[in-house]
Amino acid sequence: MPNIQFTDIHNSTASNKVIIEKAKKVLLGNKKNGFTLPTNNKLYPAQWNWDSGFIALGYSYFNIKYAFDEISTLLKGQWKDGMIPHILFHDLNTNYYPNHTVWNCGNKIHSSGITQPPILAIMLKKILDKKTIENSEVFKIKSMIKKIKKYHEWLIKYRDPKKTGLVSILHPWESGYDNSPLWDYSMKEIKIEKNLKYKRGDNKVINPEYRPLDDDYDRYVTIKNHLRKNKYNPKSLYDKSMFNVVDVGFNSIFLKANKDLLKLLKKFNFEHKNIQKFILKSENQITKLYNKKKGVFTNYDLKNKKEISVPSITNYFILFADLKNQFINKKIIKNLKKHNKEKRYLFSSIKPNYNKFEEKRYWRGPVWINCNWIIYQGLKNKDKKFADKIKETTINLIRKSGFYEYYSCKTGKAFGASNFSWTASLFLDLLLDKQQR
Ligand code: DGY
Repeated sequence: MPNIQFTDIHNSTASNKVIIEKAKKVLLGNKKNGFTLPTNNKLYPAQWNWDSGFIALGYSYFNIKYAFDEISTLLKGQWKDGMIPHILFHDLNTNYYPNHTVWNCGNKIHSSGITQPPILAIMLKKILDKKTIENSEVFKIKSMIKKIKKYHEWLIKYRDPKKTGLVSILHPWESGYDNSPLWDYSMKEIKIEKNLKYKRGDNKVINPEYRPLDDDYDRYVTIKNHLRKNKYNPKSLYDKSMFNVVDVGFNSIFLKANKDLLKLLKKFNFEHKNIQKFILKSENQITKLYNKKKGVFTNYDLKNKKEISVPSITNYFILFADLKNQFINKKIIKNLKKHNKEKRYLFSSIKPNYNKFEEKRYWRGPVWINCNWIIYQGLKNKDKKFADKIKETTINLIRKSGFYEYYSCKTGKAFGASNFSWTASLFLDLLLDKQQR
């Protein structure tokens, strides 16, 4: 573990003021009408689901209207059945692949046909916990909560039709950690569609060494085409989809989001029995993904009926879910301390001694600020000292290397998109959040 000098980051030193202004500038520089791009460098020219959640939290430190707008705009793209897409295409003239014509779906706003980690309830609760709610805001807030509830019910109904307490993702893009080695086994089982014709845009904007391989893209596109052929029908696709994985990270986020949603539902007097029931089941069932022998959480590939054990930092999102099982929590924290013990920068997305680890490639090794943030949130009521260390190293990494998409765990060098919105947002939260839960 790197040796960190502790400083009081809450004092408003001149240097803090400067970097806070820089973080705001990143967000405002990426801001469009009612939503914010993940970056200004044309890599992601649309609104992304979980990016928007993180972005809203950042805005809440200096412009509450922008924070609510970010969430409301995303909710405007909600499908009639409740699904909230992973991308909303507000601007139709971009070089992004796959664009709105390729997905060919959406309700009111052109969108992708899949979802992303459901962090909205978590972000909304965090934002509301920090402020006094004005009477004039109640209607808007209630309407957001209703829509988020409908989204959670969609996940429960269609992504856990067998009522196991755990939901599935049907495309690696739904995890947000697109090309993680977590998916390698399941992806290899997918036969690439014949005569695939498409043109990637991402590796023209960013060094291809930092992006997923063509072989990965061929499979992403194959799965996407199959979803489209099946009209994104959530009922049939759970069984038919080429990819169906129960991911620890996604389920941990969903469990935390359900717990936070439940608190919001109670606070605003909404019906909450279904959500409460699902939380109880999920809290119990998620521990079935715990491999006692190895002391780690593992994924389950439902399509191929296989346990997938890959040392991904996202397995530690379980801490964020706040399981009551203290025995498991302690074990997990002990292992987390060993995750990238010998490397300077916390946390590598994949354990550095794993044979699929890559220092620079997207989700195959680099440090991601949202992962550090999620783990910090999960740890601060369990191991305050370790949590503070994570907070400090994360803040210092951003100070040193800037607001980027991801970073080397060896050198701290930045990779991927510059002026990255969620990095700026979560930096603001880490620096300015004085609340203990
Ligand atoms: C991308 O385009 O790389 C996105 O992560 C897909 O959601």
